[in-house]
Amino acid sequence: MKNTIWVPQEKQAVFQSRGEYEALYGGAAGGGKSDALLTEALRQVHIPHYRGLILRKTYPQLSELIDRSRELYTKAYPKARYNDSKHFWLFPGGAKIYFGAMQHTKDRINYQGKRYDFIAFDELTHFTWDEYSYMFSRNRPSGSGTRVYMRSTTNPGGIGHSWVKERFITAAPPLTPIESRMNVVSPDGKLITVKRNRIFVPSTVFDNKRLLENDPNYLANLSMLPEKEKNALLYGDWDSFSGQVFSEWKNDSAHYTDRRFTHVIEPFEVPASWKIYRGFDFGYSKPFAVEWIAIDHDRRAYVIAELYGCTENADEGIRLTPQQIAAKIRTIEAEHPNLRGRRIHGIADPAIAKAETGQSIADMMAGEGVFFDFGDHERLPGKMQFHYRFAFDDEGIPMIYVFKNCRHFIRTVPNLVYDSTNVEDIDTRSEDHIYDCVRYVLMDNPINPRKNSLTKTYGEDPLDMNCEGSVNKYNFYSY
Ligand SMILES: Nc1ncnc2c1ncn2[C@@H]1O[C@H](COP(=O)(O)OP(=O)(O)OP(=O)(O)O)[C@@H](O)[C@H]1O
Ligand SMILES: [Mg+2]
Repeated sequence: MKNTIWVPQEKQAVFQSRGEYEALYGGAAGGGKSDALLTEALRQVHIPHYRGLILRKTYPQLSELIDRSRELYTKAYPKARYNDSKHFWLFPGGAKIYFGAMQHTKDRINYQGKRYDFIAFDELTHFTWDEYSYMFSRNRPSGSGTRVYMRSTTNPGGIGHSWVKERFITAAPPLTPIESRMNVVSPDGKLITVKRNRIFVPSTVFDNKRLLENDPNYLANLSMLPEKEKNALLYGDWDSFSGQVFSEWKNDSAHYTDRRFTHVIEPFEVPASWKIYRGFDFGYSKPFAVEWIAIDHDRRAYVIAELYGCTENADEGIRLTPQQIAAKIRTIEAEHPNLRGRRIHGIADPAIAKAETGQSIADMMAGEGVFFDFGDHERLPGKMQFHYRFAFDDEGIPMIYVFKNCRHFIRTVPNLVYDSTNVEDIDTRSEDHIYDCVRYVLMDNPINPRKNSLTKTYGEDPLDMNCEGSVNKYNFYSY
């Protein structure tokens, strides 16, 4: 095509033709994600009041995008000018595309009071849900006649892995629109239902023919990565990524009944002689977590039931008071077949015993008849208890099982990532509420490392020595 400076490749064209409010593109390295975002931002630059914003986590990371924009934008709009100090492009009619960073959640404030018709996140899993969702409030028309929407790209892994996976990847098969409905009460008391839709458009390097032609070595580079990184970046596998803390986690539905080499199992009736614990981690604007854990005579733990206070958005709390949570706990403990009539030992974060003014959270819950002892919240020994318990013995039996109905445990604990500065510990910005609440219970029942554990108990396994048949287990996204 004469004078055409950029033509979308097949998957990029799919992404750029979607009408949903939010769309996520990619899920693996090299699929032409950044190019797709940069060119999508140009769609409305003929409208003088159009404002676009492209975000990356930090300014140094933005420089690559800005360099690419210099190539694409100046070719497409020779009169467009880039303002280096203020990080925006000015187009001939007056439209602007800004580049921005949000290194810390508090940096959201830089966008307060601003509005953008188009907001794009490059490498979305580097952002937390709070950071992403805040930008919904900044996504408003700058004037009449613009389309208002959000677009993102990402690879698996990173602090936001869990919420991004939940929101876009597991919510529906690829290329299936996902609809959320929210109820809002208007000032005159009317209930209004509002709808928003979103979609995931997968791509891998195999969808970027231009890159494969220009740089045939890139495929070899990806295939030489350590196993976990390769699975994530080359094949777009969301269950395997480097930085994952509990890489020994196994969820194998073929073994839910024989309970071998899987941590998730079929629920069963808990024998009357086993002890039952209730772990609790309080949250209001963040989710609260209650996990009920049975301990058998070999000190093996079974996570048997859970109550997790999150909205349909992962890591967003449902804002219940301690009394309201206690009432829910009481109802569940009176009705649940594995809990009713049982003596239940509550253990919670010691922080709930603090009372700066008035009653502590623990006191408020005690007032409702729900009592707790306070757990040992030492972080690293607590993390090691998970590693010791996740390890399988020769027969494939671990020291902790999770009933398959505890879906928030299954969703959040395997997705925890390491902190980039405190490298031995969990990144506390990830969705760690269930992890914390179970940790207090495990620290009350500590075990020693198992001598005959088959898998390494913790840490990276770059050569995947412990994984049987690790090759060819990937299903490419198909549609
Ligand atoms: N439609 C296209 N036409 C020409 N070149 C393209 C096109 N799409 C992508 N490319 C080129 O392919 C290369 C990789 O694309 P891009 O940087 O967008 O991929 P990415 O998915 O963002 O990669 P990463 O995972 O490394 O962030 C770049 O050199 C880019 O210019
Ligand atoms: Mg990129």
